[in-house]
Amino acid sequence: MVRVTWSAFALGAVAVACSAGVGCSGAYVAEPRPGGVPEGTREPDQATAGAYGTRSIWAGVYTDEQADRGDGLYSRSCSTCHGPELRGGEDAPPLKGNDFLRWWYGKPLSELDQLIRVDMPADNPGGLNGRQYTDVLAYLFRENDYPAGEEPLSEDPEELHEIMIEAGGGED
Ligand code: HEC
Repeated sequence: MVRVTWSAFALGAVAVACSAGVGCSGAYVAEPRPGGVPEGTREPDQATAGAYGTRSIWAGVYTDEQADRGDGLYSRSCSTCHGPELRGGEDAPPLKGNDFLRWWYGKPLSELDQLIRVDMPADNPGGLNGRQYTDVLAYLFRENDYPAGEEPLSEDPEELHEIMIEAGGGED
């Protein structure tokens, strides 16, 4: 089975988009750092055979209760690097707005979920439990203006694979 190194993939994507003139925010420069982000791996897309992207993130795919819990978890586990307002810091990218979301448009939730589960927090990868990662994800969606709904966000990668991250969130 081919395994893709996420960090290498992410760094490549940053370089390509900048040279294509899509715009670089400039605040965060993705460079390999000594003792930096541990290398994580993720399964390629084919590993999850759900009905790819058949639901929209706009349908209300998490609950406010999850996002409320995720709020506290974010403050404890993520804000030191990504900033209290999710705007990023010297060494970490923003998790809010178009600078963050444009990488994710057209991708299933499962990919963002896997990145966070495998690589984050960068100083303690895998340091949260399954439900906590899902709660943090719900918080990120609420902060990016995607609506809450009645059904809680699932921890099941197959179900997350069905939900598509669509444009329009995080406006400002
Ligand atoms: C010790 C600092 C640190 C902490 C704590 C941390 N991160 Fe990160 N995070 C980073 C760095 C650095 C990157 C960029 C990695 C890269 O480019 O390969 C990153 C990247 C990300 C990305 C990808 C961003 C993008 O542009 O697609 C997400 C999502 C993310 N982090 C979420 C989280 C969440 C959620 C938490 C808390 C559970 C967290 N991070 C905690 C440093 C941190």
